[in-house]
Formats: sequence, C-alpha cells, structure tokens
Amino acid sequence: MKILVTGGLGYIGSHTAIELINKGFNVTIIDSLVNSNIKVLDNIENITGKRVEFHKIDLRSKDELYSIFQKNIFSGVVHFAALKSVSESVNNPKLYYDNNVGSTENLLDIISSRKEKINLIFSSSCTVYGQAKKLPINESSPVLNQESPYGETKKICEEIIQNQTIKSENLNAISLRYFNPIGAHESSLIGELPNGIPDNLVPYITQTAIGKRKELTIFGNDYPTRDGTCIRDYIHIKDLAEAHVAAIEYLLKIKKQNFYDFFNVGTGKGLTVLELVKMFEKINNIKLNYRIGDRRNGDIISAYANTKKVNKTIGWHAKNEISNALKTAWKWELKLHSLDDN
Ligand code: NAD
Ligand code: UFG
Repeated sequence: MKILVTGGLGYIGSHTAIELINKGFNVTIIDSLVNSNIKVLDNIENITGKRVEFHKIDLRSKDELYSIFQKNIFSGVVHFAALKSVSESVNNPKLYYDNNVGSTENLLDIISSRKEKINLIFSSSCTVYGQAKKLPINESSPVLNQESPYGETKKICEEIIQNQTIKSENLNAISLRYFNPIGAHESSLIGELPNGIPDNLVPYITQTAIGKRKELTIFGNDYPTRDGTCIRDYIHIKDLAEAHVAAIEYLLKIKKQNFYDFFNVGTGKGLTVLELVKMFEKINNIKLNYRIGDRRNGDIISAYANTKKVNKTIGWHAKNEISNALKTAWKWELKLHSLDDN
C-alpha cells in the first residue's frame, strides 16, 4: 500500500516515514528541502533497510505534484510539508499563507481530480486552541483566533480539508493536533535540525549543554503554575510518529465517505519548563547553564491534552517516557556535534 509523505525529510515526517516502512507501507517522500537535508534519505535507509522513492518538489508547484499522482496510486497521504516558525510567520505572513495554505490547496485540488480513494492525515497543532479555558484540553475546546499567521495557517488548512471531505467522494481525512514533540530516533541517525538559533525549548537546552549557546533563558517564572514556569505536554517523537500510522490504519478501515475528524496527540501530562530542564540534567547527568528571564511574548501559560478521544477511537496511546526523549535528544546533539568536528 502506497503512502505519500509530504515534508517527509523533516523532523516529524522522517520519524513517521520510518514507522510506516516498519509497518510494511510503501513510502514515497516529497520535500522541497527548505528546512531539511537530503542526507536524511540515506539515514532512513540505514535505519529501515529500505530506499524510499524521493522527489524534490515544492508543493506550491502544482504541475510537479500532479505528475507524482499520475504515476502512483496512493492510499494515503500524510501531509507534513509546511513552514513552522511562529516568529518568522509574524515577520513574513505572506510566505506562510503561500507556503502552508497554498501547498494544502494544491494537494486538495489534485486529490479531487483523482478517482482513487485517498486517506489524508494533516499535521495540525494544539496552537489552534490558544490559551484554553479548561485543562486538560479536549477537542471540544474552541479553536480561537490565532495570534500568529502560522497558527492561522493551521486553522485554515483544517477548515479547507474538512470542507473538501464534505463535498468529495474520494477523500477521508484526519487532522492531528500535536502538542510538543521532542526527542530523536534511538539510533541517533535522525532528529530535529533547527535552523539557526532554536525557538523551541529542547533544541535550545541541548545546544546549551553542548556549548553552542552560552545559556538557556527560561522565559518567565511568575506564571500562575506550580513553579511559576509555563506548562506543556511534551510527547516523544516516536509516539507521535506512531500516532500517524495508527491514524492511517484507522482511515483505511473506514468504509463511509465524507469522513473527517480531528484528534489531540499528546501524553495528557503537563510539565513545567523547570521540570523539563531538571529532568534533562538528571537523565543525562549534565549541569545546564540557565537563568530566569522575562516572559516571551505570546506564550500561553499552560497547555496539555485530554487524549481520551484519540485513545478510544484510534486506539493509540503514548508509551515512551519523556526522560527517554531527553536522552535521545542529547545523544542526537552529540552526534551532530561529532559531525561538525569532522
Ligand atoms: P520540519 O520543518 O522539520 O519539516 C517540514 C518539512 O516540510 C521540511 O522538510 C521542509 O523542507 C518541508 N517543506 C516545507 N514547505 C514545503 C513545500 N512547500 N513543499 C515541499 N516541502 C516543504 O517541521 P516538523 O517539526 O517536522 O513539522 C512537520 C509538520 O508538523 C508541520 O506542518 C508543522 O507545522 C507541524 N507541527 C509541528 C510541531 C512541532 O513542534 N515540531 C508542532 C505542531 C505541528
Ligand atoms: N522556552 C524557554 N526558553 C527557550 C525556549 C522555550 O523558556 O529558549 C519555554 C517557552 O516559554 C514555553 C516552553 O519553553 O513555555 C515551550 O516552548 P517551545 O517554543 O518549545 O514550544 P511552544 O509550546 O511555545 O510552541 C511549539 C511550536 C509551535 C506549536 C506549538 C504546539 O513552536 O509551532 O508548540 O505544537 F504550535
């Protein structure tokens, strides 16, 4: 069974491609390499023993994308391809609408021109909930107006995908609203490759630990939480990757048409920034240089998932320890560092 993975050389896409291959799916990857490296393709092969078909295509190029659908019959599409920096999206909203929404529109147009039934999984984000009034956040929590163009693109893409499933005979779809993925593959052959100075906490922690950054700034310790720092639902990248396989398998079994649903993907447990930092220090036996700084603009105080819907409906559960994700993230940073030295 053929599955197209857009953005499949990126962080979450590459881990998901591995889990799909391990489950026996025949994976084709499309990526523009705007935020990934072609070497990831070799490392997917090193891990799985399978060379996946790869096309360097920007999804905004509809003709090139169309030609891939003409040459293949895909049962599923896992659509990761997008730009993901909240700060960049604030500075360059047009780029984010063009790239993230434009790509999704092209993909949907092409799917609607096809006869075969296609099951689509879309990478959404818990960012669509903003600061939810009720915690843990369940799927009935309202989708708010977004503070960043990035968040807005996720909201719009969810809407246009849902609209297309309503009117199309060949598309069923699921949006997965990820909480905070962290960690790397246990082999240390693939992981997150942040561009420049990382925005996200864990790459910032590992880059500080390796000496690439002087110190980690914890953005605020005066929030109304148990230790004053923000709370997030960190999820092991392997668990998140497996959620995509479970979602595809679920869609493949569905007989009805016009199916659309959305699910939270998290662990259900919130950790504060300080708790995560201390866990990193303990599991890796490292002292981290950090200081408390000002709050970061736009940060929500607390977000963690109610995962009952995904657990019950799709049968997926997070299994891997967050401490293990922090171990693999550190091993991955060490690996990147050893490659820098050579
Ligand atoms: P990533 O940047 O590592 O991967 C995205 C991949 O898509 C990259 O390889 C990039 O080169 C490719 N890409 C981007 N635009 C493209 C285009 N127009 N055509 C072809 N390829 C294109 O990011 P990631 O962390 O793996 O995120 C994957 C998806 O999950 C994104 O949609 C992101 O918004 C979403 N998401 C990520 C997080 C997170 O914390 N990492 C959280 C919630 C949602
Ligand atoms: N943090 C620090 N110092 C840093 C970086 C982060 O204290 O150097 C804190 C933040 O203030 C926040 C927590 O660590 O409290 C997590 O921050 P991240 O930037 O790692 O994650 P966010 O939850 O802010 O956002 C991420 C992605 C978004 C995505 C969202 C939900 O960046 O794109 O998760 O999936 F939408």
